[in-house]
Amino acid sequence: MTKSQAEIELKKLREEIERHNYAYYVLAEPMISDYEFDKLLERLLAIEKAFPDLVTPDSPSQRVGGAITKEFPTVQHKERMMSLSNTYSPDELREFVERVQKDLRAEGLGEPEFSCELKFDGVAVSLVYRNGLFVQGATRGDGSMGDDITPNLKTIPTIPLRAKESSNALARALLNAEFEVRGEVFMTKTDFAVLNAQSEKAFANPRNATAGTLKLQDSREVAKRKLAFTAYFLSSDALSDDVAHAERMNLLEELGFRVSQHRRVAKSLAEIEAFLSEWEKRRDDLPFEIDGAVIKVNSIRQQKALGATLKAPRWAIAYKFSARQAETKLLGVTFQVGRVGTITPVAELEPVFLAGSTISRSTLHNFDEIARLDLRIGDVVVLEKSGDVIPKVVRVVSEKRPADATPIELPTRCPSCDSPLVKPENEVNWYCPNEARCPAQIRGRILHYASRDAMDIENLGDAIVDQLLKERLIADAGDLYALEKSRLVDLERFGEKSAQNLLNAIEASKSRPLERLIFGLGIRHVGLATARTLARKFPSIERLASATLDELEQTEDIGDIIAKSVYDFFRNPLNISLLEKLKTAGVNMTGETFETIQNPRIAGKTFVFTGALEKFTREEAEREVEKRGGKASSSVSKKTDYLVTGSKAGSKLEKAKSLGVKILSEDEFLALLNS
Ligand code: IVH
Repeated sequence: MTKSQAEIELKKLREEIERHNYAYYVLAEPMISDYEFDKLLERLLAIEKAFPDLVTPDSPSQRVGGAITKEFPTVQHKERMMSLSNTYSPDELREFVERVQKDLRAEGLGEPEFSCELKFDGVAVSLVYRNGLFVQGATRGDGSMGDDITPNLKTIPTIPLRAKESSNALARALLNAEFEVRGEVFMTKTDFAVLNAQSEKAFANPRNATAGTLKLQDSREVAKRKLAFTAYFLSSDALSDDVAHAERMNLLEELGFRVSQHRRVAKSLAEIEAFLSEWEKRRDDLPFEIDGAVIKVNSIRQQKALGATLKAPRWAIAYKFSARQAETKLLGVTFQVGRVGTITPVAELEPVFLAGSTISRSTLHNFDEIARLDLRIGDVVVLEKSGDVIPKVVRVVSEKRPADATPIELPTRCPSCDSPLVKPENEVNWYCPNEARCPAQIRGRILHYASRDAMDIENLGDAIVDQLLKERLIADAGDLYALEKSRLVDLERFGEKSAQNLLNAIEASKSRPLERLIFGLGIRHVGLATARTLARKFPSIERLASATLDELEQTEDIGDIIAKSVYDFFRNPLNISLLEKLKTAGVNMTGETFETIQNPRIAGKTFVFTGALEKFTREEAEREVEKRGGKASSSVSKKTDYLVTGSKAGSKLEKAKSLGVKILSEDEFLALLNS
């Protein structure tokens, strides 16, 4: 095949494949079998492989993925991506409609029409098309800047790589200009269930699964997960304000985008309410999750006149549906032991179908909750699923309590290791104190260490951890790094390949950032945000481990309870031994190394800060000192060299004066830093 022959055939193949793609995904009317489709794609890939310089950005081969992104570039949105004001209340909806009507009348802009749409529960993205070609796709980010995730978005079959040709005059104008489409990327309930069944670690709901997928750095992996896109916004300089929102949605369809069919233009509050009550009833019939409806003023002219507040447009509102409920029977209560020993009661329920899934268990949080609900075994209970997919027991239907309902016996010993339970004063939770040997706690700690937000060891889920523990191959997370392939392959469920995959995943975890390690250690009260704060203040595990209680308490956003918990953690022999193993294994234990600056006037000196600084936060000032080899301390003593005073300096100033410590203003401090 010559290059020019290839060029001709590629063009034909691309058009044909995209036509079938559109018929299959957008119209849901396939024209050929999957087999025939795959053949066409294979042929395309083969020719492109032979003539790599003929690959185009809109080739269907781009949907297969392949690009690996280390870090997504940040891009500026042309127009701010705002969110919507929310309401659950029919009264507030009425107020919204009345306000819009009143404001428009006051400006002599006539009566509004409203576009009623479903509120897709996924992830908002912005797509930019230039001359019909999809050139950039980004997340919302903070509204003005988002992540450029174009390669990932290209894998989504319902996102056109090139907008469809059209004879419509407005569509043609768009095809010759730049336009921006916004919409929601989501996963259907079925695809979500399939994904969760395949992966070791479950996502809580389709929205989380979508967000997690879009963040993947390997677009080939994204292509394997089934994501979909629906458009709900179109903007372009090529369109006049006379082209209303509903008409724009039709244009998007014309250009090959999928737009929800369940939209309606309403002229009155009554019509809006009819739309809402219809979808509140029918939401479970939809193949995807919605969390409400969006009501938008249809005319763009009117939208512009109404304007926006800082966060949200004043021409639209999201009406959220209230939580869905179901009744079922409480069959029993089991007690789980968490990784820090917390005992959590779990309701075992007669399976009931609620909002798209069958529920047979639900957490009861703590013993007080059982008392609060006055729960007995045999009771009929009301289960509720709100926006998030985690269901909870909200009340007992007391009229339906059977005569033989039995009170729930609260355990006094750990269900896993039989240690007597304890309850710290001022806490609602009961705990198993056998931190070192309780099997449930050991298991929980390892699973937490491997979890997605911590060290993210893929393939290490419940079943495998159980097996490794049972075979005594591990006793804590540190032992994971000493696992040997020859031992693994002997185990049930393991083959050569799966053993190697696990070892690779464990190896990869060695280079996670410091904050993930801090989180993964499972220090009580230290969530991801706190771990991040600690990693910012302490550049290594060693520094964190040797931090004084005082230093910890002085860290921004860290209260006394967390400080004490961190302090105790690093003085517990169990954890010392774990850290030793992690260190020996070569697990990364330092944060981003920050620059060091030579400054002999600061090196070796101890600084204390008091009062509010103007040019720095306290943390930043301390960082600057540390960069130059100085030390920041929180209290004034004989060892203090400098006290830096901001406005409203407190008692430290008095003390410093009495000890003869040198006092610096913020400006003097700045001069010293730069000297
Ligand atoms: S319009 C300025 N329409 O809801 C208005 N948003 O809470 C932009 N969403 O960030 C949004 N379905 O992710 C609009 N039919 C729909 C929607 C929708 C879902 C999401 C979107 C937005 C969020 C606001």
